[in-house]
Amino acid sequence: MHITMIGSGYVGLVSGACFADFGHDVTCVDLNEKKIEALKNGQIPIFEPGLDALVADNAKAGRLTFTTDLAPAVAKADVVFIGVGTPSRRGDGHADLSYVYAAAADIARAVQGFTVVVTKSTVPVGTGDEVERIIRETNPAADVVVVSNPEFLREGAAIDDFKRPDRIVVGLEDERAREVMTEVYRPLYLNQAPLMFTGRRTAELIKYAGNAFLAMKITFINEMADLCERTGADVQDVARGIGLDGRIGSKFLNAGPGYGGSCFPKDTLALVKTGQDYDSPLRLVEATVEVNDRRKRAMGRKVIAAAGGNVRGKTVGILGLTFKPNTDDMRDAPSIAIIQALQDAGATIRAYDPEGIEMSKAVIQNVEYATDAYDVAQGADVLVLVTEWNAFRSLDLERVKAAMNTPVLVDLRNVYRQKEVEAAGFTYHSVGRPV
Ligand code: NAD
Ligand code: UGA
Repeated sequence: MHITMIGSGYVGLVSGACFADFGHDVTCVDLNEKKIEALKNGQIPIFEPGLDALVADNAKAGRLTFTTDLAPAVAKADVVFIGVGTPSRRGDGHADLSYVYAAAADIARAVQGFTVVVTKSTVPVGTGDEVERIIRETNPAADVVVVSNPEFLREGAAIDDFKRPDRIVVGLEDERAREVMTEVYRPLYLNQAPLMFTGRRTAELIKYAGNAFLAMKITFINEMADLCERTGADVQDVARGIGLDGRIGSKFLNAGPGYGGSCFPKDTLALVKTGQDYDSPLRLVEATVEVNDRRKRAMGRKVIAAAGGNVRGKTVGILGLTFKPNTDDMRDAPSIAIIQALQDAGATIRAYDPEGIEMSKAVIQNVEYATDAYDVAQGADVLVLVTEWNAFRSLDLERVKAAMNTPVLVDLRNVYRQKEVEAAGFTYHSVGRPV
């Protein structure tokens, strides 16, 4: 099967490489010439564990190619996936669909023969209708079926998530696409991954409902963490105690500095906007967005309190900048708001991240970048663990303490145990655990 992927970012590249690994013939297209040039030369423009080997193997086998030339790639395809970005639209928080619509028009001009066009990007309910309208208006002779197939992978675990999904959701309005989509996902289907067919609008909404529910779960436990701090309870035991109830489930109940990343923040906001547009307000999601936004800056205040109420003229060391470990993605990372709050209060910031420093330079100003965790600690008055990279999980605390000005550790991911940190001579602060 010939598959063409429009957009070769986190989702497009991972999906394209995995489809090639299933044995399909895949062409990944992107507008960004530097990205495509790098890929052609075997360089992976993002950090995602295992992706370099997967891309190299499939490129070598001739099943995975890269191009900026959309038209021939679309012309030969049986299935064209749209995997371009859908960021928040500046000013109003709706999803910016301009990249999706531009891709739809490009596809319409190039398509030849019966082709299934699949929206993999996360798009508001009804977008598939508009994609179909654009294609028909641009090229009335086009023989296309437009399908929704939202993606549920997580960065940092993207390949595993793609190859072992909990479910595959396919929304379609034309039965001709059913067999094609079954063929596309055959290896997973044979592996028992449930392939769920539904209507196109429903599939689009499933994606947002899923992300919003997970964001709500995290926000719930974060508010519980605040209550635990005020009442002397332990949020990790609360999470375990409720998570063992199968109706609740233990995942996504880790309290922290607030959710970030390229998707939860923008998708919760876009869903709120959709609810408002349809006069069907989603109050739980609205509250989730608001509580999470406030939390990130509140984490800055937590650090200031740990530093004795004042960070002016002090150095704050930041361990981890990316929104989660095992990615280089800085989009909407909590570190951005936390660092801003600390800089506003007069702190000097030293920071280190195993993969995020390059992207961080583009979004955070006036930061001294260190070479590792011990270098961050050098001369610091407070050390803040923001992202739970493995490299920060078993630090030599004696060595960290020796490097610091004052040994204060604020652990926003509850990686350490209070006893061990205090035994090493630190003042220790974590999230939602009794002091
Ligand atoms: P990204 O920004 O990493 O990649 C998008 C790519 O599309 C860019 O390289 C861009 O140059 C390219 N592009 C834009 N317009 C194009 C066009 N007309 N032709 C060719 N290329 C074009 O974005 P991403 O993180 O991969 O997200 C893509 C979509 O998938 C979004 O809707 C997102 O919400 C959704 N999603 C992302 C994740 C994730 O973990 N990142 C997971 C599930 C779903
Ligand atoms: C998330 C979803 O998990 C994916 O299913 C979805 O496909 C993707 O968004 C998307 O639509 O793009 P991702 O953003 O890559 O994936 O990462 P997550 O592991 O979900 O983490 C998101 C944020 O929540 C991170 O900032 C993380 O630190 C935070 N988080 C997560 C918590 O604070 N606590 C938790 O228990 C879990």
